[in-house]
Order: sequence, then C-alpha cells, then structure tokens
Amino acid sequence: MVVFSHTNWRKPTIRTFDRPSIFLAGALSSLLILWTFFFFSTQTQTQPTTTTCNCHQPDPAFNLQSDPPISTFYDDPNFSYTINKPISNWDQKRQTWLKLHPSFAPSSHTRVLIVTGSRSTPCKSRTGDHFLLRFYRNKVDYCRIHGYDIFYNNVLLDPKMASCWAKISTVRAAMVAHPEAEWIWWLDEDAAFTDMEFKIPFDRYKDYNFVVHGWPKEVYVKKSWLGLNAGSFLIRNCQWSIDFLEKWADMGPGSVNFEKWAEVLLSEFKHESDDQTALAYLLLKDHQKWVGKKMLIETGYYLEGYWVLIVDTLKNITERYLEIETKAGMLRRRHAEKVSERYGVLREPLLKDAGNEFGSWRRPFVTHFAGCQPCNGKHNPLFTGEGCRDAMNKALNFADNQVLRNYGFVHRNLSDPSTVSPLPFDYPA
Ligand SMILES: *[C@@H]1O[C@H](CO)[C@@H](O)[C@H](O)[C@H]1NC(C)=O
Ligand SMILES: *[C@@H]1O[C@H](CO)[C@@H](O)[C@H](O)[C@H]1NC(C)=O
Ligand SMILES: *[C@@H]1O[C@H](CO)[C@@H](O)[C@H](O)[C@H]1NC(C)=O
Repeated sequence: MVVFSHTNWRKPTIRTFDRPSIFLAGALSSLLILWTFFFFSTQTQTQPTTTTCNCHQPDPAFNLQSDPPISTFYDDPNFSYTINKPISNWDQKRQTWLKLHPSFAPSSHTRVLIVTGSRSTPCKSRTGDHFLLRFYRNKVDYCRIHGYDIFYNNVLLDPKMASCWAKISTVRAAMVAHPEAEWIWWLDEDAAFTDMEFKIPFDRYKDYNFVVHGWPKEVYVKKSWLGLNAGSFLIRNCQWSIDFLEKWADMGPGSVNFEKWAEVLLSEFKHESDDQTALAYLLLKDHQKWVGKKMLIETGYYLEGYWVLIVDTLKNITERYLEIETKAGMLRRRHAEKVSERYGVLREPLLKDAGNEFGSWRRPFVTHFAGCQPCNGKHNPLFTGEGCRDAMNKALNFADNQVLRNYGFVHRNLSDPSTVSPLPFDYPA
C-alpha cells in the first residue's frame, strides 16, 4: 500500500510554479495524445460486445427503469399508504419487491432515506422560510456527501394528524414508497447537521428497530417526557415498525382513542398528549418487556442535540479541528466532494480524545433548534427571536464551512452568512 505523504506530494506542484504554462501545455498535449489513442483503441475493441451497455441509466448502480410486470403489494387495491389500513407480512412483501428489483438488493440492509418536512403554507415569521430553506439545504448537503436519498414533505397526509403528529403518517408513507430503504430517518425541519462527516453507526443497531436520542433514566425511571426528543429518530423499514407506527398514531388526534390516551399520558408522564409524550410512553412499555426490546435511547452521540448546549462551543471546536489539520497534512489535501467520506475516516483516529456529545470538542452531529420555532416565530419565552436567529446562523454557517471547503471557500465569520473568502492551497498549513 502506498502511504500518502502530503509533504512529498506537494513538491512537484511547487516546481510547476516555476514555468507553469510550458509544463501545463506539455502535460496537456501528451495527455491528449494518450487519451485519443486510448479512446480509439477501446472503441474498436468494445464495439462488438456492447449489447449489455446501460448507457441510458442515470446511475449504473441502480436499474431505475426496470419494474417487471409481476404483481407486488403495489398492485393490491386494498393496500394503502395510510395508517388506518393495517399492513401484514410487510417484511415478506419488501423481500419480494427486492427480488424483482435486484439492482437495489446489494445495500438493502443499510440503505437510508431521510424524511423531513414542514407546513404547506408560508411561514408567519419574516425570516422563517429563509431559515427553512437553509435547514433543508443543509440536509441535502449531508445526503449528497453520503449518498442518501431525501424526501421533504410539506402536506398533511392525514389532516387530523396535524403539527407534531404529522411525522407519523409521513414516515409510514415513506416506508411503503421506499421498499429499497432499510432505515427511515426522520428529522425535524429545525434540525441541522453540524458534522458533515459523522455517520450513524448502524451496525450497533442490528437488534433494534427504533432509535432516538435521550437519557434513559429520565424516561424509564423519572418518567419525564423531556428525557428524549422526537425531532430525530431512526426506524427500520419492517413489519414491527408498521405496527409500531399504528400504535403511536392510535394515541394521536386522528384516533377515536385520543382522549383515553391523553388521560393515560397525563397520569404516567404528567404532561399533555403530544407525539413526544406518546413516544416516551411507548419506549417505557418496550423497556418493561422481558424479551424482544426493540427500542433504543441513544446516549453516545448527538443523534439530536439541544442547540443551547452546543452553539457556544462551535468556535472552539473550529479551532481544535484547524489545529488537527495543521498537523495532519492528509486532511488538508484537496479532493472531490464525492470522495469526502474518505477524509472523515482519516480524521477519526485524531478525534479519539475528543469525546462525543455533551462537553466534547467533536463537532456535534445534529443540532436541533427546539423551542426556536423558526417558521411561526412563536419561540419559547426563555429565548429571544434574535438569540435564536443568531444561533441558527452560526450553526448553519459552521456546517456550511464543512461543505464549502470542498468548493474552495470559507465563512471566516460564523455570524455572517453572506461573506466567504477563497481558501488558499494547503489550508490551514
Ligand atoms: C379487498 O378487501 C375487500 C373487503 O375487505 C375484500 O372483499 C377483497 O377480497 C379484498 N381484495 C383483495 C384483492 O384482497
Ligand atoms: C473556549 O476555549 C477557551 C480557551 O481554551 C476557554 O477559555 C473557553 O471557556 C472555551 N469556551 C467554551 C464555550 O468552551
Ligand atoms: C461578523 O458578522 C456579523 C454579521 O454580519 C457582524 O455584525 C460582525 O461585526 C462580524 N464580526 C466580525 C469580527 O467581523
């Protein structure tokens, strides 16, 4: 294996500065000759065997144009995307679909679909739509870097399941629409990726079907509805989850049992019924089972982190990362965005002392602006609108810097969304 040494690699580039035009012209013309030769020789060689050419497919990895005329659950008139129509044998139905679409089979045990959304009408807050756009852009950036698909829903799929309950019907429809995905990852509109490199350790979750961030003791012992946050959760695309969503929805305003559940939730969690209290109840019940526990409260990293604890640490974290990069030449190497996961892997050993989550100097994975309500502007009275906007700005620019790095630019001032400067070569050596 050739070990990349940044200092050695740099030398020829410095030499080209002496006579750049002559060197470049020479290099280009020899490349052109080589390419012409290669092009014509491969053309003639491959011409007779082009019958398997998939030239018209946008991504040769997936066959996006094949849907055999063999009936699947999609062809069953009784099968429905909505929660009021139960689904049975979903695991088998998914497998059957995958067998008919073999190009999607290879990573069907790990594939992720991110699902998010917001209301169908303009935000009441003057800056709301602007922030939602930036929050969405942030998610699209993460998806592009890691090859995840994303679905942004902005209609109520079940009109009775409004506001915070809307995610349940959205996730259910997304599961049915994406049999090729193993995990659906719900993210609230006001959550941003603040570590573009971190990847969910899905291999840790092979025994679980539902993962949410929180503090187990708060939920299981103290019975606090604030012991978790429903703004970011992972749910496996399987029959267990279909049944789980049905139970969760049964506690919501679209259900005839809504009032009954509201009383149960009030007595267990001393809090009014909402999606999060209902989820806390379901976690508690799953936890009390002797076998088959399928729900996990993740404590090891910010699957979702509270912005109040995070935003003031971003400046120091930026400095720590720059310090690492000053020493590790490989991390300064410019590269195509497509291969940026490689640099996350290379950085990992250098973060072993950073810790994770609260008190850590690792970039926080997901920062959630709970209580800021960027769209309707009705923030929690503990905060000011200005404070929220300033914090969202900083977090979004902090994330944007990780993206723009691969485009050659940086926001030097995290509070200024509009100004960027070009990055010098070998930054920050
Ligand atoms: C659909 O449901 C109806 C009523 O439950 C039933 O009579 C019918 O046989 C079902 N159709 C299919 C294709 O399963
Ligand atoms: C940032 O680092 C400085 C210097 O080490 C330290 O004094 C300060 O408390 C840190 N700020 C935060 C929010 O951790
Ligand atoms: C950073 O940007 C903000 C917003 O544009 C501005 O108010 C502030 O003065 C800038 N800070 C520095 C150090 O330039």
